[in-house]
Amino acid sequence: MKLCVALDLESKEKCLELIKELKGLDIWLKIGLRTYIRDGFKFIEEVRKISLQPIFLDLKIYDIPNTMADACEECAKLGVDMINLHASAGKKAMQSVMQRLDKASKRPLVLGVSALTSFDEEEFYSVYRQNLEEAVVNFSKLAYESGLDGMVCSVFESLLIKQNTSENFLTLTPAIRPFKEEANDQKRVANLKSAKENKSDFIVVGRPIYEALNPKEVCEKILANL
Ligand code: C5P
Repeated sequence: MKLCVALDLESKEKCLELIKELKGLDIWLKIGLRTYIRDGFKFIEEVRKISLQPIFLDLKIYDIPNTMADACEECAKLGVDMINLHASAGKKAMQSVMQRLDKASKRPLVLGVSALTSFDEEEFYSVYRQNLEEAVVNFSKLAYESGLDGMVCSVFESLLIKQNTSENFLTLTPAIRPFKEEANDQKRVANLKSAKENKSDFIVVGRPIYEALNPKEVCEKILANL
C-alpha cells in the first residue's frame, strides 16, 4: 500500500515547502485541481527539480471522448505517473483515452473515479437514483473492460471492486483519517487498518498531513503503520 500526499495548500510556496520537507520519504505526491489551476504545468517541472517521488495528477477528467483523449494525452506528455478520469463518462470515452495513451512510449497509470468519497448513500442516490455500491461496481466493470488500471473509491468499496473485476485492478482510496482526525467534507471515511483489510493499493491523505503542526512526523507515522 502506497501513501499519496495531497498538495492542496493555499499557495505554491507552501506546496513546495511541504514537498521539500517530505523529500526522500516513500510517498506519491498528488497534484489536484487547486494547485494545478493556480500553478499550472510549470509546477510539475518545479516539483521534479526538488523530488523524484512519483506524481499523481488528480484532475478527474470528464468530457466527450475526443476531448478526454486529447486531455489525457497532454497529461501523459507532462510525464506524470498516474492520472484519473470519471468512469461515468462511459466506455467509449475510456476506450478512446486508452487507445490514445497506448500509442505513447510510456503512459501513466489511469484510474476511473467511481463515487466521490464526499457522497453518503442518500446524497449519492439523490444525484444518480442508484444504490452507491451497485453504481461503483458498474463503473468499475466498465473501466476494467475499457483497459483502465484501477479505480478511485472509498475503502468500503475496495474489495468489492476487486471481487467484481480482478485482484490486480488497483484501488486508490481518499478520505483516510489515519489517527481519528476531523472528517471535514468527507463522508465515507476510513482508517489505516480498514484500508489495509480492504486491500487499498493507494491511500490519499491531505488535510491530516498538511494541516498538522509537523507534517513529516505524521507521514512517517502513517508509513510505519502501512
Ligand atoms: O484533505 P483530504 O485528506 O480529505 O484530501 C483528499 C484528497 O483526495 C483531496 O485532494 C480530494 O480532491 C481527493 N479526492 C477525494 N475523493 C475522491 C477523489 C479525490 O477526496 N473521490
